[in-house]
Amino acid sequence: MIIHVMDDYEQMSIKAAGIVADQVTAKSDTVLGLATGSTPEGMYRLLVEKHRRGMDFSRVVAFNLDEYIGLPPEHPQSYHYYMYHKFFKHINIPPQNINIPRGLADNFDRVCQEYDRRINEAGGIDLLVLGVGRNGHIGFNEPNSRLNIGTHVIGLTENTIKVNGRFFRSLEEVPRRAITMGMGSILKARKIVLLANGLNKALAIKETVSGKITTEVPVSLLQLHPNLLIIVDKGAASLI
Ligand code: F6R
Repeated sequence: MIIHVMDDYEQMSIKAAGIVADQVTAKSDTVLGLATGSTPEGMYRLLVEKHRRGMDFSRVVAFNLDEYIGLPPEHPQSYHYYMYHKFFKHINIPPQNINIPRGLADNFDRVCQEYDRRINEAGGIDLLVLGVGRNGHIGFNEPNSRLNIGTHVIGLTENTIKVNGRFFRSLEEVPRRAITMGMGSILKARKIVLLANGLNKALAIKETVSGKITTEVPVSLLQLHPNLLIIVDKGAASLI
């Protein structure tokens, strides 16, 4: 585990965008795993700027971590909408190389199996960019007595519903379920970059760095990963 403590959110984002850019430059057909949320927004903005200055994403394949169940892709709070508007529509990644779990389906078992199959067929994830929930969730792998290996449907915890409610008009509108990549694909990623900023992530980062490894704090499992880079601002680093 390597930890970079940056001065602020902008420096964290610059560092993260630089790592993604170096990866794509070194391997043009890189398979990226990507998170949504407030944390990586700056990184996406900087990657779009890099693309405008010539960075090529034409051979990159992307797999997003998760999506709310019940939201159509055009819903402003769906992760499809987020990824398209903040990143994908501004770069030259081919649409067929973009993978985001579907939030609307008749048969979610089939959607989950298909997602894992596609990740495997792509050769697994080269570089996975993660954020972390205040409760230690990664993707939507919520604290639990057991965690799933594969892509699966999960009920969101009250804590996540409350925290993510800031993006919705009311708490009632927050979907109660989500589809998420499981811990298997996450831990199999060849390199993981975990981003966190702000004091409200300090406890989760402490658990990541030195907490007991437990499914009740999913991010703590990252201690088992051989190639983990943590990039945090001073606030998120304040307890380590
Ligand atoms: C979303 C995801 C989540 C977020 C986490 C932190 O795709 O993977 O695990 O990373 O909820 O969200 P923010 O960045 O909004 O604090």
